[in-house]
Amino acid sequence: MSDIANSLAASIRAIHDYPKPGIIFRDITTLLGNAKAFRQAVDELVRPYQSLSVDQVAGIEARGFILGGAMAHQLSSGFVPIRKKGKLPHQTVRMAYSLEYGTDEMEMHVDAVKPGDKVILCDDLIATGGTAEGAVKLLRQLGADVVSACFVIDLPELGGRRKLEALGVEVRTLVA
Ligand code: PRP
Ligand code: HPA
Repeated sequence: MSDIANSLAASIRAIHDYPKPGIIFRDITTLLGNAKAFRQAVDELVRPYQSLSVDQVAGIEARGFILGGAMAHQLSSGFVPIRKKGKLPHQTVRMAYSLEYGTDEMEMHVDAVKPGDKVILCDDLIATGGTAEGAVKLLRQLGADVVSACFVIDLPELGGRRKLEALGVEVRTLVA
């Protein structure tokens, strides 16, 4: 890994046996609370998109809101929240998505993106890719052009990157 990837990786806390025994949870609150690491992570996330005239960054609840909001500010784009069902006040479109165990549903406001909008999807981590796949489908249902999806952390053994690439979405990650 590069020096930046190594220093970002060192700022992420590993919590053993959370939320269940046997799981190592990658906790980015320590990265967010470290001014240098937060700045570096957002700078690295936006770097490939700076010349693209991105219309919207779409962030996945909850940690994708923090990173995606900072990205949108830096790219001078809008920000679109993709939320767990039942949280958004206006008319929504809904998409079921698969989790490691079971399924859930996510929503966006129907008018959150316009057909043809260039959108970057953002979240803290990609594992199985089920969440990001649902988000890509929802954005495309509204006619968005999902240019790329970015994550601070990739858990490569869970196959999320391949799942998104099979949908024709470019995937960028900072730390594996
Ligand atoms: C985590 C993470 C991603 C998703 C990745 O969120 O922030 O959104 O899981 O997993 P996947 O690639 O297997 O779909 P979580 O579902 O824990 O929700 P939270 O942000 O509300 O804690
Ligand atoms: N951290 C955050 N979200 C996750 C993780 C993790 O380690 N694994 C699956 N989703």
